[in-house]
This record gives sequence, C-alpha cells and structure tokens, in this order.
Amino acid sequence: MKLLAIETTCDETAAAVVEDGPRVLSNVVYSQIEEHAPFGGVVPEIASRSHVEQLTAVVEQALQKSQLPPSQLDAVAVAHRPGLIGALMIGVTTAKALAWAWDLPLIGVHHLHAHLEASALDGQQVAPPYLGVVISGGHTDLHRVEEMGTSRWLGGTRDDALGEAFDKVASVLGLGYPGGPAIEKAARVGNARAVQLPRTLLEKDSLDFSFSGIKTAVLYLWRGRNASYPGRAPGAPEPQDICAAFQEAVFDVLAQKIERACQQESLSEVVLGGGVTANQALREALAEKLGEKVRLYFPPLQYATDNAAMIGALALRRLEAGHIDDLELVAEAQP
Ligand code: KG4
Ligand code: ZN
Repeated sequence: MKLLAIETTCDETAAAVVEDGPRVLSNVVYSQIEEHAPFGGVVPEIASRSHVEQLTAVVEQALQKSQLPPSQLDAVAVAHRPGLIGALMIGVTTAKALAWAWDLPLIGVHHLHAHLEASALDGQQVAPPYLGVVISGGHTDLHRVEEMGTSRWLGGTRDDALGEAFDKVASVLGLGYPGGPAIEKAARVGNARAVQLPRTLLEKDSLDFSFSGIKTAVLYLWRGRNASYPGRAPGAPEPQDICAAFQEAVFDVLAQKIERACQQESLSEVVLGGGVTANQALREALAEKLGEKVRLYFPPLQYATDNAAMIGALALRRLEAGHIDDLELVAEAQP
C-alpha cells in the first residue's frame, strides 16, 4: 500500500509518499524558519499564510519525486492534531480536497504519536509495550505505548517543553531561532564544569518535568541577579559554557525520568521522537547513562524534526488496521 501524507502542524510545510515497510518514496519539507526568525519564534498567522502559499507545490514535488500518479495511491493522510489551529486547518482542508477528488480514504494522524513512529523509518520496529518519549518544541511527554493508537500518558512538563527551553535559553543568549541547533553547536566548544545549573526532579516518584527554573537561572547568570542588564552582564560566564552546562543538566534530568518511568512501568525499550532528538549530544548522553539498562531507539536524523514521512508511516499502520476517517475529519489544536 502507498499513501500521500501531509504535515502542517507548525512551521514546516511537508508532504511525503510512503509505502509499506515503511519505505519513503519521497519526502519534501519546506521550512519556514527564515520567515519566523526575525520574530524570535513561530508567528501563527505567518505560519498559516506560508502553508497556503507552499503546500500545493510541496505536494506536487512529493508526487513527482515518488514517480507515482495519484491513481496508484491507496489513501491520503494528514496530521490533524495537535498544533497551531490555523496551520492544521490548511493541511486538513487540502488533504480532504485531494481525498475527495481522487476518491481515496482519508486518514487523520496524531502528530505526537507519529514522532514515535519515526524510528520505524530506519527499519527499527519495536513491539509494544515500550516507553514513548516525545521531546519537541511543544511537548515533553512520557507515554506507555501498548499498541498502535493506545497509549497511557505517564507524565509531562508542567511549564516549558524541552525544545521550548532550548529556544528560550538561546533567545536569552542572543543565539537566534531555532535555539536547539544553536545551543548544540555552541555547547560543543563549551565547558559544562564552568557553570552550575539546577536539575529539577520534582517529587520522588514524579514523571513530570519542569524547565522554567533552569531557564530563569540562565537568565540571571547572563543578565545579573535582577536581570536588569539588557544584554550580557559584566562577569557573566561564557555563552558556550552556559550552553554546555544547560545541555548536561537537562539531559541528566531526562535520563533520570526515563529510568524512573521504565522502573515504575517495568519497561526496557524506549522509543524517542521529536525535534530535540536531532541533538547528537543528547543521543550520546542517553546512550552513556542508560545504554546498559534499557534499549534506546532514535529516529533517523532527517526524520527527527517535523516531516510528513513519519505521518505516512503511522497512517500506513492505521490503514492496515482499517482505521480510516471520513471527510468530517477536523483539525484540533489540543492533543
Ligand atoms: O518536533 P519539532 O520539529 O516540532 C514540534 O513538534 O514542536 O521540534 C522543534 C523543536 C524546537 O524547539 C527546536 O529548537 C528543537 O526541536 N530542536 C533541537 C535541535 N533541533 C531542533 N533541540 C536541541 N537540539 C537540536 N539539535
Ligand atoms: Zn513535531
């Protein structure tokens, strides 16, 4: 079976053609980063307008690269939740129109569940139950995944998502948007020992996260005790040292929570997904801290941040199981 998948939940306009395997026949991603960068973050209205402008061409390219005419497709899939509502509606409306015009089934896919499917694009099929860890710009969630479509939420962030914390720390340090890649690059030449940052673990058994404390700690380190400096305060640590210490602290917290969740739930396999998994230092830190205790699965690097191939991979499994939607499918901002 083969399908066209569409992703427009946030600031990537993406389409892919995926077949059983899952095998990616084409994967096109138009990143809006340059359009949002001057504002230091994603502007929802700009995102929606840009999806309208780009999506048709992105879908056409995905079809061309797959060398398949629509008549050889078995379904149209779309990420319909969660995300920016205006952005989601562009993808959902386009997918509905195509499914109707081509007389194909429509499959709505949960964006966060799809992030956990991205590692399957490398041929890594993990049998449930496993711990699903979504670390993206909007989410930091631990799920017990039982089988496709059924998962139990175990914990998540009480304030900033992990990717959001990267973005905000980068913004404080003047490193630009998106913050994740900028912090990773700076941290490579930084000395984590030069800076002390807090690790928030919350209650003894808690599987929740909180990253607002470390974000504020960075702000005070950089701007001075009352954050009154408009930029770097005299005597503030080197930015690359802050980045290295920040990464070390948040990866440490993440590893401890993953270990805690695996112990509480008697799980030994951990599937990770979401934009923050693009971070090579994170992969190394988790492998070092947890590699002997649990088995870790990461997505291939090109499928770590938002893309439509992962939407297609999950949609194929839904199609096989007969879980299809109809043209009443709606976009939903909430998970
Ligand atoms: O999954 P994603 O593309 O979009 C959402 O669903 O949110 O994740 C985007 C997030 C951003 O916060 C970005 O800063 C972060 O992923 N990110 C990274 C890296 N690349 C992207 N965080 C840390 N290190 C990276 N290399
Ligand atoms: Zn995402």
